[in-house]
Amino acid sequence: MPISFAEFTREALYGPNGYYRQDKKRVGKAPGTDFYTAYSLGPLFGALVAASLESLLGPRCFADYVFVEIGAEPGQGLFAKSSPFDQSLTLKLGQPLIIPPKAIVFSNELLDAQPFHRFRYTNGQWRELGVHDNQEVLLEHISSPAQAFVQKLPSRHIEGYCLDISLEAEQLLEGLLAQPWQGFFLTFDYGKTWESLLYDTPQGSARAYHGHKQQANLLENPGSCDLTCHVCWDRLEALMHHPTRQRQESFFMHHANQKIQNLITKAPPFDPTLQALKGLLLQMGSAFEALWAWKE
Ligand SMILES: C[S@@+](CC[C@H](N)C(=O)[O-])C[C@H]1O[C@@H](n2cnc3c(N)ncnc32)[C@H](O)[C@@H]1O
Repeated sequence: MPISFAEFTREALYGPNGYYRQDKKRVGKAPGTDFYTAYSLGPLFGALVAASLESLLGPRCFADYVFVEIGAEPGQGLFAKSSPFDQSLTLKLGQPLIIPPKAIVFSNELLDAQPFHRFRYTNGQWRELGVHDNQEVLLEHISSPAQAFVQKLPSRHIEGYCLDISLEAEQLLEGLLAQPWQGFFLTFDYGKTWESLLYDTPQGSARAYHGHKQQANLLENPGSCDLTCHVCWDRLEALMHHPTRQRQESFFMHHANQKIQNLITKAPPFDPTLQALKGLLLQMGSAFEALWAWKE
């Protein structure tokens, strides 16, 4: 029996033998890892996030709010070594995502790591893709979680066009925002607009990574590689009240400007922190974006 792409990716990532359930180091530069994130550049990412939160919420934010991080890898965390917050909470995989009444909810690359659906436009209609015997197949019917979504797709499109979308990332965000907490939400990720997903990525935006290399086939070796897909920014923004989205570089240049100036003027020329700063602002700065909003 074929299963939908969403079921396949859920199993491959979070099933009992799923990629993220295994006791291994996935993120960073060490042998055996598969991909980098901003955390791989050392403590600077946390320092810039803390400086930005202080400038957006005021210095009392460290005492007034519980810092809630969702989706840190085991043994890691934005402020794992030292935290400016009086109270922090790290909600790991498998824990219920319950947010305390006054919170700053933070995540990095949580939403791009959710299971995703895959659709193809063929013979005048959108069909959902599934997996059977490690092969991509067209499903007979659109699966029930995707039925409302398919109604939103353009009725005419380009033959063979492939669209990847994580409806689960949207449900995760919706679940967080529906809870009665008050404070600030901030997530960093890479994504595309609805328009761009529909017209700029004819092969879909999903990728598989193993050993820091992109794999040609998403279906090969499920459980041993990271499967990820771009988030759809506009659909996430539609779930939020007055969201702001900024490129990572712009977010930090606006909100952690003083910290960055201090680093540039005071650090010796070959200080590794300056290399990390380059990584966060120049290399990752335009690919990644910050999505943030106040929550009342
Ligand atoms: C791409 S990794 C990013 C890890 C880390 N945030 C970083 O930036 O290096 C995605 C992480 O999200 C975690 N994750 C996914 N869904 C989750 C959920 N519902 N609750 C908590 N963690 C989750 C995964 O286990 C994994 O550790």
